[in-house]
Amino acid sequence: MTIVDELQALRAQALASIEGASASDALEQVRVNVLGKSGSLTAYLRSMGSVPKEQRAEVGKTLNLVRQAVEGTLDRKKAALEAEELEARMAAGAVDITLPGRAQQVGTRHLISRIQDEISEIFLGLGYNVVPGNEIETDYYNFEALNTPADHPARGMQDTFYVVDRSGDKAAVRGESDVLLRTQTSGVQAHVMESQKPPIYIIAPGKVYRRDVADPSHLPQFNQVEGLVVDEGITFGDLKGTLEYFTQHMFGEDRRTRLRPHYFPFTEPSCEGDVSCGICHGEGCRFCKGTGWVEVFGAGMVDPNVFGYAGIDPEKYSGFAFGMGVERIACLKYNVPDLRMLLTGDMRFLRQY
Ligand code: PHE
Repeated sequence: MTIVDELQALRAQALASIEGASASDALEQVRVNVLGKSGSLTAYLRSMGSVPKEQRAEVGKTLNLVRQAVEGTLDRKKAALEAEELEARMAAGAVDITLPGRAQQVGTRHLISRIQDEISEIFLGLGYNVVPGNEIETDYYNFEALNTPADHPARGMQDTFYVVDRSGDKAAVRGESDVLLRTQTSGVQAHVMESQKPPIYIIAPGKVYRRDVADPSHLPQFNQVEGLVVDEGITFGDLKGTLEYFTQHMFGEDRRTRLRPHYFPFTEPSCEGDVSCGICHGEGCRFCKGTGWVEVFGAGMVDPNVFGYAGIDPEKYSGFAFGMGVERIACLKYNVPDLRMLLTGDMRFLRQY
């Protein structure tokens, strides 16, 4: 067999392998086997020097023709395989428009935020302004300026979480931090009376914190809305009328309100306001602890001492203040028997509102 014959055989075999390659990586392997550094055709190209002179021209020519044929076939096959493979990838990744779609879940406002807005709306309608407050508060604004000095027994009912300065501040190291998570929104009263002159008609919604264990009617973190009115000639009758107006607009006319005498350090006289339980309609149940009433408001006439801290003349002005729990109002309005249900994040529950 002459070299030329060998080359023709190699050509036939290479072209067959190229045509037989079923994927581009198999094709690349064929290319390396024939044209790579130690490929079968490359070996012939390298050994041209040892071909007898008289055959060189013919062998050289054949070699070139074989190489051209192999390269040309490789290029065509490569393009064809790549197109096939692209087609296959597109088919695999294609969207099947006959499948049912996946709906995007649209969120809604949480019930607590919505009730907070509803409360604000009712008071905005009465001409009140909404003011913000600080969740991290000083002992002075949370207690002291509200007529609750350090040794006052009423502090015991509102134990809270203290913010400790880890930088080595001496007071903090002794555990006597003056910075705390507010237990009530009432501190906003003190801030507002310091910075505004009467007439004052404000509400202040926001989060408060207490060292309480969660149960059906208590949460260690909850929301309050504070109200404060300071003007000339304000009476307890104004307070009562305001709370009744609010109750009717929030819960509807079938809900009853009652005020009970109570004690708060910063109001005098003070009361608590209850709304009739909508779950048992006054019969008594777990939510209302068997009383038929749910406590919603703390309220009273602003204590003259509190005016004193803020520099407001108690001879000229009088006022009332109230505080209410947003979660309780939400539960009362929708007959949710346990405050903790509001915080579970269970969409089946939350979507109902
Ligand atoms: N801050 C009181 C509480 O959290 C409620 C209150 C507000 C009472 C305003 C009187 C006046 O219990």
